[in-house]
Amino acid sequence: MAFNLLNKDIDTLTCPALVVFSKSSSQKDKLAKVTHSEIHKALLPSLEEKTISGKHQETVVFREFSFKGFRHVIVVGLGKENEITHESVRQSMASAYEAIKALNVTEAAVHFDGITAGKKDAADFAKATAEGLILTSYVFNELMSGKKETKEINVHVVSKMGNDKAVKAAFNEGAILGSVVNFSRRLGDLPGNLMTPTILADSAVEGAKGIANLKVTVWDKARIKKEKMGGLLGVSNGSDQEPRFIIMEYKGAAASKKPVCFVGKGLTFDCGGISIKPGAGMEEMKYDMCGGANVIGTLLAIAKLKLKVNAVGLVASTENLINGSATKPGDVHTARNGKTFEVNNTDAEGRLILADALSYATELQPQMIVDAATLTGAMVIALGNTHTGYFTRNSALKTKVEKAAVESGEWVWNMPLTDFHVKDMKGTYADLSNISSGKGAGSATAAAFLEQFVGEGIPWAHFDIAGTGWAVGNRLPYCPKKGASGAMIRTFVEIAKQYT
Ligand code: BES
Ligand code: ZN
Ligand code: ZN
Repeated sequence: MAFNLLNKDIDTLTCPALVVFSKSSSQKDKLAKVTHSEIHKALLPSLEEKTISGKHQETVVFREFSFKGFRHVIVVGLGKENEITHESVRQSMASAYEAIKALNVTEAAVHFDGITAGKKDAADFAKATAEGLILTSYVFNELMSGKKETKEINVHVVSKMGNDKAVKAAFNEGAILGSVVNFSRRLGDLPGNLMTPTILADSAVEGAKGIANLKVTVWDKARIKKEKMGGLLGVSNGSDQEPRFIIMEYKGAAASKKPVCFVGKGLTFDCGGISIKPGAGMEEMKYDMCGGANVIGTLLAIAKLKLKVNAVGLVASTENLINGSATKPGDVHTARNGKTFEVNNTDAEGRLILADALSYATELQPQMIVDAATLTGAMVIALGNTHTGYFTRNSALKTKVEKAAVESGEWVWNMPLTDFHVKDMKGTYADLSNISSGKGAGSATAAAFLEQFVGEGIPWAHFDIAGTGWAVGNRLPYCPKKGASGAMIRTFVEIAKQYT
């Protein structure tokens, strides 16, 4: 698929398909408006009949419409003029892309100037347009024997503002973010046999190839042992696959500037270990590396966007399986920072591998640490698949997270993290237990466990993407119905921007 911004008057173009937009009126009896005046006139009967109502995401297709250089015309609803936001544009672009695809054409034009009347919001909407189209174009069919070839579609986003510096830069940024999210989604969608810790690390190396100022270092099992990462090693005990610790370093600012640090859970398959999970639905645990994949994506995006910041991405990666050497309930391991923990449930493994990654992050004395992890089933119970729950005790970072999420359009929800939760994680025989002694609040107690590995005074936020890491397509039309979403990549990039 190829997407570009064309600086042109739409009427001068020749293309098999054209997407124009419709806006509904805030007055009840007033007709909706099609954003191209000549097409509006031609479609008056449909507007009068309310076939075109302008409702958000409404799609009306006119095959063989033959308007100037265009054969087919697609009318996509934007909703009411004053209710159009960058998120609603992203969703309208999902409708546009699906309609283009259904027409079976290889080329289409999108009448961008119809969305924004003037310059206001133009850059914002250009970014959302690129994101919406590219995110919707994602398919994961490489494992189907017959369906490997998807038809290439060239989509031109056409605007008279196509040469405007801000609009161009915003479109380009949206395109980078869209393609990076799709890169991370693919890593998530690959099944456990094709996405091992080694393959995840190789993918980070491969993805970073040719990107300036981005370095990837991968530690193997021997090095992980030498580096005293007892949590990561302890979980990987039960697997025949070697663990990996992935370090991505991007230098976009002076060497003296402290980095911002992103940490991800890269559990390539989680069967629960000896505290084994029920069989039904276990196949979904191939997605347990989505936090890691999305941290890899975040670093790729930051580097591709050439942000003036130093950033580090850390991904701890292993399987959680059951061979004869697997960690047993009651086993005690020592994390990199010297703290000991009892493994009272081998299925609470994400926090163990993140313990080492957060300890290592702390040693870098970063300006802040954020992590992403499919950490707890309790998160899915609490927030379902709409919001990513985040935990932080730093109010300045909380403000940054909220601002970032407004910019990215991703939904986040602040969750509690208190000393009570910390108390619940005390161990009987070791410093800590990996499961709570209290009742409920499983996501907060997991966060409290993680907190024990973050250096004092370092602003830190933990994002539990258990509910949003995959299968959110029923909510967000530009996400796959069943597959990985790439959650928090766009928000993390927005957080990084606030440190430039
Ligand atoms: N990877 C799971 C969490 C998960 C479950 C994510 C379902 C998405 C959907 C994690 O490793 C896990 O199993 N956590 C346990 C912790 C419990 C044993 C304290 C859980 O949530 O049940
Ligand atoms: Zn688990
Ligand atoms: Zn897990």
